[in-house]
Amino acid sequence: MNSSKLRVLFVAAESYPLVKTGGLGDVCYALPNALRQLDVDVRLLLPGYSAVIERLSLVEVHDSINIYPLLEPIRLLVGIMPGEITPVYVVDCPSLYQRDGGPYQDITGKDWEDNAVRFGVLSKIAALFGEHKFLFKPQIIHCNDWQTAITPALLAFSSQAHAKTIMSVHNMAYQGIFGPETVEQIGLPPESFNMFGLEFYGKVSFLKAGIYYANQITTVSPNYAKDIQTETYGCGLDILLTERQQQLTGILNGIDLDVWNPDTDIHLNRNYNIRNLSAKVRNTQVLRTKLNLENSKQMPLIGMITRLTEQKGMDLVIPIIPLLIKAGVQIAILGSGDKTLENHLQRLAAIYPKKMSVTIGYDEELSHQIEAGTNIFLMPSKFEPCGLNQMYSMSYGTIPIVRRTGGLADTVIDATPENIKNKLATGFVFERTNSNELLYCLQQAVKMFHNKAVWNQLQITGMTRDFSWQKSAKQYISLYHHSINTI
Ligand code: ADP
Ligand code: GLC
Repeated sequence: MNSSKLRVLFVAAESYPLVKTGGLGDVCYALPNALRQLDVDVRLLLPGYSAVIERLSLVEVHDSINIYPLLEPIRLLVGIMPGEITPVYVVDCPSLYQRDGGPYQDITGKDWEDNAVRFGVLSKIAALFGEHKFLFKPQIIHCNDWQTAITPALLAFSSQAHAKTIMSVHNMAYQGIFGPETVEQIGLPPESFNMFGLEFYGKVSFLKAGIYYANQITTVSPNYAKDIQTETYGCGLDILLTERQQQLTGILNGIDLDVWNPDTDIHLNRNYNIRNLSAKVRNTQVLRTKLNLENSKQMPLIGMITRLTEQKGMDLVIPIIPLLIKAGVQIAILGSGDKTLENHLQRLAAIYPKKMSVTIGYDEELSHQIEAGTNIFLMPSKFEPCGLNQMYSMSYGTIPIVRRTGGLADTVIDATPENIKNKLATGFVFERTNSNELLYCLQQAVKMFHNKAVWNQLQITGMTRDFSWQKSAKQYISLYHHSINTI
């Protein structure tokens, strides 16, 4: 081990391309890569889902570890990310992780009943790394979201903690809330079950534990770091976050240009960049054919790729779909989640064949093709910690329409007359969670779509923006050093 390098264990419940349900998976692949390029010895720790074990090139198996009396012994596996050099530690405990279904839910969409133990165990293994119980001795344990948020609490109560903890919050709306019996199950002392601790209205909140006990807290955009200190967006933890604001930093996510780049994207019919932007049209034609949409250059094609949850604002879109179709646009939606929303969208698609396409499910290839093939990308989120698709859209010459919230407000520059004049505009921004405002904003965008010179300028401005991870990865490195140097 090169001891002069900064040593970081990056803990997460998902990481592309092994397992991904949303942006967390993208970030937990791209950020460690960016850190390694800046000479940080960063290694990942993931749960041993079947997909992870099957797709990793495994190189080593460590001895079994007994952590909880009623649980089978756990093996720590070590592998290498496919096509990468990032070492990955895997918590191998088949009874907890090897199941049919998703990382957090069964096939019917119900949360796994033992999620407290499943992610308590992940957090516990991360804490053992923080106690330097293994060969790799990290100086920082970087936790991501509630599934890893017990680690800072375990280390705060440990007499052998040798690492500092960073708690990155990708979404306040998911806290990991369980019954009080969890405290004992996951091996925390009873005194942690306290309002000055992880107690949350008589229950245990994993995320509160992370926010309360971590040395530093980050969120995935500067604006969301402010948002979550308010009652509206704080999900009951705004006061705690305000108390800890000296340790709270918003660091904007980047995008992985090896995966999301129209010039090299392996999923596209035709690659393109700012010099041959006209080739984007070919991807639109191919997408229309694939989705069985009418081929017409006159109609703008609007895309959405999204988890179908309350957060993403689909309820603002549904009521205006008939009006949009009437006004001459086409819509391509890829998403999955809430069954009522899925059914509603499918019913609308059946009413408007050739004009509206709805694909229910998770489809990585189609997601790239929608980014490249659509003209406008819609993200009317009620809240958005960062959002990646608006950045993918801008770099694919697809103009985003977003609500002014969280990371969307930090990344999209509204097409006001002044911003257009100064060649700064990259998209359209509306304020309130209101279908009429969204409709008005969409109408403005459609009008501008027909003004080719201005549209082209919006595309070029977005495509030349730097959304790479470099800058943000450097901010994380400063934070790591700051944590190490602070008692
Ligand atoms: P969130 O993490 O809240 O879902 P982000 O915008 O940060 O939102 O990231 C979403 C990521 O998940 C993007 O990479 C997006 O392309 C992907 N994604 C979401 N839904 C689907 C889907 N149904 N099929 C394929 N990719 C999807
Ligand atoms: C979460 C947020 C999203 C963010 C992603 C990655 O899932 O909802 O806004 O981009 O995490 O940080």
